[in-house]
Amino acid sequence: MNRRIGVIPQMSSIESILDEAKHQERTVLTYEESRKVMKLAGIPLNKMKVANNLEESILKAKEVGYPVALKIISEDVIHKSDSGGVRVGIKSDDELSKSYEEMLTSVLSFYPDAKIEGVSVEEMVSGVELLIGTSTDEQFGKMIAFGIGGVFVEVYKDVSFRLIPVTSKDIQNMIDEIKGKTMFGGFRGMPKVNLDELTSMILTISKLIEKYPIIREMDLNPVVATESGLRVIDARIILEQKED
Ligand SMILES: Nc1ncnc2c1ncn2[C@@H]1O[C@H](COP(=O)(O)OP(=O)(O)O)[C@@H](O)[C@H]1O
Ligand SMILES: [Mg+2]
Repeated sequence: MNRRIGVIPQMSSIESILDEAKHQERTVLTYEESRKVMKLAGIPLNKMKVANNLEESILKAKEVGYPVALKIISEDVIHKSDSGGVRVGIKSDDELSKSYEEMLTSVLSFYPDAKIEGVSVEEMVSGVELLIGTSTDEQFGKMIAFGIGGVFVEVYKDVSFRLIPVTSKDIQNMIDEIKGKTMFGGFRGMPKVNLDELTSMILTISKLIEKYPIIREMDLNPVVATESGLRVIDARIILEQKED
């Protein structure tokens, strides 16, 4: 995987990122673009650097600081961990080299034709894994989802939905509807979820979708509630084919 990533467009505003994708007739934003939209909207993310090969990954890991997580970046790999495309708790250059090779071998065995755009070297974060998502319903329009996140989201299905825009009161009710909400209060030594910060993050997402209805789907999973606040550690944005 030594080929270079194409020139990355200037991503100075949310508009320019969405315009660039539209211009290229892409409906799926790259991982970097999706994260940049979040950052520009004021949503906190974990530290992340992109690398194009092993040597670069090792350099980026020094910048991020061990321990790091390593993830595949490919538009052909939607659920990265299902194909071995997420490695966590990497503590040294040696471990990184091993994880890098293993990760690529695994992903390419699942998706032999996958176009690998790079890898991300990321700060490790731990805490309660939540999700915030948005979708577009043919009948009802823009919806927002909140719930227990992580890789078992399909197993628990502990998610509440509302139409966009939502108010703080709506969000309070959404949180109350979650069956596993005892987890938010600091369960078994896990960090507590800061409900004010969570409410403000859900409000921000609701406003973002109101302002940019071209965003068809957004998947922030997980949003991790850490000791020092919320951090988005995986983001995916899909645009409408055509703007209404
Ligand atoms: N930076 C990280 N720190 C700690 N755990 C992580 C990190 N990145 C991913 N993980 C773990 O791996 C899981 C899957 O990672 P994610 O980036 O959401 O990939 P995908 O959803 O595509 O499988 C997360 O739910 C989390 O448990
Ligand atoms: Mg994810």
